Amino acid sequence: MKHLLATHALRYVKGGMVIGLGSGTTAREFIKALAALRHLDLTLVATSADSEVVAYEVGLGDRLRPMWAVDKIDLAVDGADEVTRGKLMLKGRGGALLREKVVDYAAEKFVVLVERHKVVDFIPARNPVPVEVLPWAWRHVARQIEKKFGGSTALRTGEGKLGPVVTDNGNYIVDWRPEGPIDERVEDELKQIPGVLETGIFSKRKDAVVLVADEKGTVEEL
Ligand code: A5P
Repeated sequence: MKHLLATHALRYVKGGMVIGLGSGTTAREFIKALAALRHLDLTLVATSADSEVVAYEVGLGDRLRPMWAVDKIDLAVDGADEVTRGKLMLKGRGGALLREKVVDYAAEKFVVLVERHKVVDFIPARNPVPVEVLPWAWRHVARQIEKKFGGSTALRTGEGKLGPVVTDNGNYIVDWRPEGPIDERVEDELKQIPGVLETGIFSKRKDAVVLVADEKGTVEEL
């Protein structure tokens, strides 16, 4: 399904574009599919070290530029963990939320690729809300989140490791499980807490094109 979604997303790509590459397994499929269009004049901005590596692996490494070296993002293509019909999204299971938000919010057109099971009635439905935090302040920030919004928090640790996951930006991630559904105002409210650098709540791209794939091999726009 991810490959199918990736192939569909290629129709948004045009020569001369600056393209933001999302992160995660779906975005990886898109980067691989994009290699078929290497004859086009494309500039790429990756949202994680992982996506950069994939771009190099498929022969697109020479097209990569850092965000500071481009003037715009024409198109961003990314996955998501949960999306409501109102296009409130939850991202960041892979820990790339900060750069994803910079690129996805900057993009002229934002295309999101999800499998049907990720379309939910509210967020968070299954996943915690990832919050990227300043490492030095993580415990204070976690307590502030619980105090202000309720629910529980946990510092994200690597599988089989005791230490925290460190993001590409050198920060930690606090995973927050609220007591129930959250509304989109929480995106801005969380950022009022000093030490919060970014959250996995994406509420400001209601204009996104969300492509949804199902097991039957169909891809539809949400
Ligand atoms: C990366 O940090 C995330 O925001 C991903 O975009 C999101 O978790 C979707 O990943 P998958 O495509 O691997 O499900």
